[in-house]
Amino acid sequence: MADNIVFSIDPSSDLKIFLDQRKYTKVAVLTDENTLLHCYPLIQKGLSQHKVIQVKSGEEQKTIETCSQIWQAMTDQALDRHSVLIVLGGGVPGDMGGFCAATYKRGIDFILIPTTLLSQVDASIGGKLGVDFNHFKNHIGVFQHPSLTILHSGFLKTLSLRELRSGFAEIIKHTLISDAAMWEKIRSADYSTLDWQMLTKHSVNFKQKIVSEDPKEKGLRKILNAGHTIGHAIETYLLDSGNKVLHGEAIAAGLIAEGFTAREKGLLRADAFDSICQYVLKIYGKIDIDQNADETIVALTLQDKKNLGNKILCVLLEGIGKARWDCEISSDEVKRALSFYRSLC
Ligand SMILES: NC(=O)c1ccc[n+]([C@@H]2O[C@H](COP(=O)([O-])OP(=O)(O)OC[C@H]3O[C@@H](n4cnc5c(N)ncnc54)[C@H](O)[C@@H]3O)[C@@H](O)[C@H]2O)c1
Ligand SMILES: [Zn+2]
Repeated sequence: MADNIVFSIDPSSDLKIFLDQRKYTKVAVLTDENTLLHCYPLIQKGLSQHKVIQVKSGEEQKTIETCSQIWQAMTDQALDRHSVLIVLGGGVPGDMGGFCAATYKRGIDFILIPTTLLSQVDASIGGKLGVDFNHFKNHIGVFQHPSLTILHSGFLKTLSLRELRSGFAEIIKHTLISDAAMWEKIRSADYSTLDWQMLTKHSVNFKQKIVSEDPKEKGLRKILNAGHTIGHAIETYLLDSGNKVLHGEAIAAGLIAEGFTAREKGLLRADAFDSICQYVLKIYGKIDIDQNADETIVALTLQDKKNLGNKILCVLLEGIGKARWDCEISSDEVKRALSFYRSLC
């Protein structure tokens, strides 16, 4: 089932229209403290009787323990199978709240109202729900689609500039793997004048198309992991060494590192690679990655979920707008890419 997505200029009225049609027995709204403060006022008018369930913000809260609290609150409020859970927040409440709804009493309806750029262009599309388990990210979860997704760029006004820029990395990724003309548009524009609504629509349409062709990530959907093999390893390494970077910041570094490998393998032309390198550095600067980190980062790429056996499988660009998945890269190639990244100024 595809996501039912509304690009909304007035989320409270779009929510009201939907809720009036569905006639749910009970309505609960899941927020974190930031989305309760900044985003809830933008939907409150569209809600009649409802209860708010609030959890703490942050990836470290994306656990089964927090799910227990949410399931308990849903139980306390006596939500039945004809109730709905509205999830108002970024990818953390989105993945976790959707998972709680999809499993509560074997599944009740949920509505996603993503409030970060990252969740609007990526996390809320495609039906992947779940939580982290011990040190494993998104280890426990299900595929399930929301009954409705409301996308409203007005929520981004209160998002920190750093979170906004982090979400933008997924837009860059979507563009690099699918649309050379859009890439030219983005890189020739002034960052501060970028039209988030237009870019969100572009990314969402692209991700939806990919997901509808390959919902369970058997092949094509893997291209959405561009920049994520090395990027995610860098993110995990820095997190474990107490040097947390935002997801998109690590993915930006991953796009450069994997771009380097694609160029080295003769898949990506030098001028195309240079354009990626220059733009990503201009927007994100460079992350400090110690040379001693290389072995650990390689070991982390070897653990990547997308691998087969002990081969590192990666998405590589074959040009701007075109990508190939399941490309094998060696440990030495990862090290050379990291060393190139480190040499940039
Ligand atoms: N399901 C998927 O396909 C998919 C895809 C990509 C990422 N993800 C998941 O998404 C998560 C990251 O998402 P995220 O970056 O949105 O994180 P997040 O939900 O933690 O939000 C980031 C921060 O922004 C705050 N916030 C949210 N909306 C705000 C607003 N409008 N104004 C002010 N503050 C606001 C939050 O409280 C939080 O502190 C990760 O757990 C990742 O695994 C899932
Ligand atoms: Zn990502």
